[in-house]
Amino acid sequence: MNKEIEKKLEQIRKKRDLSITDLCSIDDLSKKDIELIFDLAQEFKKIGNKKLDLLKNKTIFNTFFENSTRTRSSFELAGKTLGANTINITADTTSVKKGETIVDTAQTVDSLNADAIVVRTSYAGIPAQLKKHVNACIVNAGEGCQEHPSQGLLDGFTITEHFDSLKNKTVLVIGDLLHSRVFGSLGRIVLKLGGNLRICAPETLIHKDTKKVFKGIKIFSDINKALKGVDVVYTLRVQTERGAQGYVPNLKEFSKAFGINAERFAMANKNAILMHPGPVIRNIEVSSDLVAHKNSKILTQVNNGLAVRKAILWLLIDRRDGKIKKITRI
Ligand code: CP
Repeated sequence: MNKEIEKKLEQIRKKRDLSITDLCSIDDLSKKDIELIFDLAQEFKKIGNKKLDLLKNKTIFNTFFENSTRTRSSFELAGKTLGANTINITADTTSVKKGETIVDTAQTVDSLNADAIVVRTSYAGIPAQLKKHVNACIVNAGEGCQEHPSQGLLDGFTITEHFDSLKNKTVLVIGDLLHSRVFGSLGRIVLKLGGNLRICAPETLIHKDTKKVFKGIKIFSDINKALKGVDVVYTLRVQTERGAQGYVPNLKEFSKAFGINAERFAMANKNAILMHPGPVIRNIEVSSDLVAHKNSKILTQVNNGLAVRKAILWLLIDRRDGKIKKITRI
């Protein structure tokens, strides 16, 4: 039975390979890469948590130097259900706590025959640096305020699944854009797949280079104007752990001006969907009653994340298999 599923997955794959062996940014991916990931994710979603042997005898280290519920558990479950050995490492339990650098930690686990190292860190640029020094595939699971590409892929997949395509769909991202690695990847994938990108936030929570990085983006300060004609309402948490509360008068004021409630959500297109990467802070960026709204995709995003991460791990590890990367040890 499982062999049949694996055969079907191979058929969907049609001998296609990713153009990359590390996933650090959405910019690393071609449109064909994204199409391949989405095609496989669709199939992985259908089979749920059924165990397969696609990554049998492969080893994945989940190295999370920051807290995570969704990303860490879905990468772990994805690896395990594909048959890999998965090892979880957190900041509190590693020698990073004793002063070892993240690069040295990565080189160390690489020497334990790692096939992939999934990394979450509060420092932007770490995944791109690690890929120069380790043989294993590097998978960025969220870096500082920069990017979170597996989240961008699961978001792109969720929008595509609902509307059939992202092309010409209008995605409005609201809230703490300045500290959001989710926006870093979501904005890139929306534009790459032909969508229209809008943002709405206090000026203090928008990066000064936004227009340069996200060509064609429309910036709004009035939520009522921003919501008109929108297909996707994507809300972001105010990231107090990164000091975001210093950029708004207070969370209540932020919520009054930019929080999404039923009345505001109704201003978007009739069939608009509501998205949020989680964790949700109810009644700040989104009202509690909207979380379980019929058009809310918040838990669908989590479910899709598992399928997308299976596709990412299988494709990256398989592409790298047997090939020696050009790296330098330091
Ligand atoms: N969306 C997201 O990255 O959630 P976690 O921090 O729980 O992984």
